[in-house]
Amino acid sequence: MSDIGGKSSSAASGQSGFGRQLDTFREVRRNLEASILPLATSVDGRRFSFQASLYGLELQVGSYVVLEGGGSPCLGQVLTLELDRQPVTELTLPGGAAGAAGARTEVQIQYARGEGAVLEGDGAPFHNVLVRVASGPEVRAWLQRSERGYAKLQLGELTLVAGAPCTADASGFDRHTFLCGQSGSGKTYSLGVILERLLIETDLRMVVLDPNSDFVRLGQVRVGADPTLAARYQEAARGVAVYSAGAPAGRRLRLHAAEIDPAMQAALLRLDPVNDREEYAELADLLASENPPTLGALTGSDHPAAHRLGLRVRSLGVDRFSIWAPSESGSVLDAVRDQGIRCVVVDLGSLPTREEQALIAGAVLGDLWRRRQEHAPILIVIDEAHNVCPAEPSDQLVAMAAEHATRIAAEGRKFGLYLLVSTQRPQKIPENVLSQADNLVLMRLNSLADAAFAQGAFSFVPPSLIERSVTFRQGEGLIAGKISPHPALLRFGARISQEGGADVPATWAAAR
Ligand SMILES: Nc1ncnc2c1ncn2[C@@H]1O[C@H](COP(=O)(O)OP(=O)(O)OP(=O)(O)O)[C@@H](O)[C@H]1O
Ligand SMILES: [Mg+2]
Repeated sequence: MSDIGGKSSSAASGQSGFGRQLDTFREVRRNLEASILPLATSVDGRRFSFQASLYGLELQVGSYVVLEGGGSPCLGQVLTLELDRQPVTELTLPGGAAGAAGARTEVQIQYARGEGAVLEGDGAPFHNVLVRVASGPEVRAWLQRSERGYAKLQLGELTLVAGAPCTADASGFDRHTFLCGQSGSGKTYSLGVILERLLIETDLRMVVLDPNSDFVRLGQVRVGADPTLAARYQEAARGVAVYSAGAPAGRRLRLHAAEIDPAMQAALLRLDPVNDREEYAELADLLASENPPTLGALTGSDHPAAHRLGLRVRSLGVDRFSIWAPSESGSVLDAVRDQGIRCVVVDLGSLPTREEQALIAGAVLGDLWRRRQEHAPILIVIDEAHNVCPAEPSDQLVAMAAEHATRIAAEGRKFGLYLLVSTQRPQKIPENVLSQADNLVLMRLNSLADAAFAQGAFSFVPPSLIERSVTFRQGEGLIAGKISPHPALLRFGARISQEGGADVPATWAAAR
């Protein structure tokens, strides 16, 4: 309890008794709030809690801080920060002008309270040590000290530390990675940054399922790219092979009917094993025969079931798909299998129908899974995963692609099949794909509901950091997991290669 009757400016200017009381009250509260020291305590030397004044508060969720005053200084990161209030004292306010008795009241003070993780320290507990924002050089020095023996991917800069690089640990891509953000948040752009850096810094092979033709120029350096990076990239980009519908024969996106597994053939022809058992059996026989007829030849068959199959092929328009190329040898699956090709971009966006896109995506994923025993590491990149392997598939073909992705998510890692899946909302892809991801790259989310969903799936990432995603600007993100031993807020750096389908320019909205 304190008894304070200090002078205030309003008292001096002859303000009313009530006004003076209010001024005194405010002054006391301000002085108390401003005098709160930024102090941290840790009982285990790994996590700490702290308090700080709200006046001149520099700490933010994600900030890097120095904890000093105990033993050797530690570097830490703020993981939660919230407003707290407490009654700290009772005041006797000055009386009125006519000598009325002063009023007694309680002072509630507000301050910041939070928790954090020690990133570098001696592991000893500490109590009431000073906590302050770490300087750029301090963070950069720590980043250098903590480098492990693996390739580093420079993705951009730390959002909260001007000039400090944000690097990902390349070895972390031996886990599945989930990239999420609302439309326009910069997922595809940032995915391009990740792929470019992987191409430069590692030997990891990759296949990119590209529904929007966004990566068709991944092999081409953009004008104005950083010259040093561009020179290194030029070399790596030679390994990028883009397969598109309209490309010349060697790079045409095609498939042979015989390469598609029977279940997918049946799904393509919308055959039900029970209701269409005759045709289903005929199809199975044909596929098992030594020289399966071409799809078009079926209609001419004397065999009634084969003939019916042929009619089905024709009425579904399957024989008119652009992906068949009976006269050409080789297919996109050969490219994916070819260890000599570093990066295969499967330009699904160039295909005219959804069925063809689903068929190729399913065939690639199915083939990778079938060949899993080869233990050949490959990063399977799926942009727009809500179209390629959605949580709620629109038909049987898409469902099969989603099943393959789910199986790879569950069991692929030990065979060297690593997923990098990008989508707009976490609930749009199969739950089992999401739950198997050990790395998170999070861009702006458009609702706290989506952030809450992501928090459920990525319990190893501090929830308040995920929550920050609703405030991210375009190109800003959060990376966490094995690729980033501490969760880092970053601004993605510039692309080296050209973007494929950049956003339509909004020239129609220019000021007149
Ligand atoms: N870090 C960045 N620097 C410069 N431009 C960027 C950056 N990130 C995104 N952009 C630009 O913003 C636009 C939208 O980005 P992008 O296509 O990557 O969004 P997206 O999240 O993939 O959206 P969608 O879900 O609709 O595909 C693009 O024109 C891209 O060039
Ligand atoms: Mg995109």
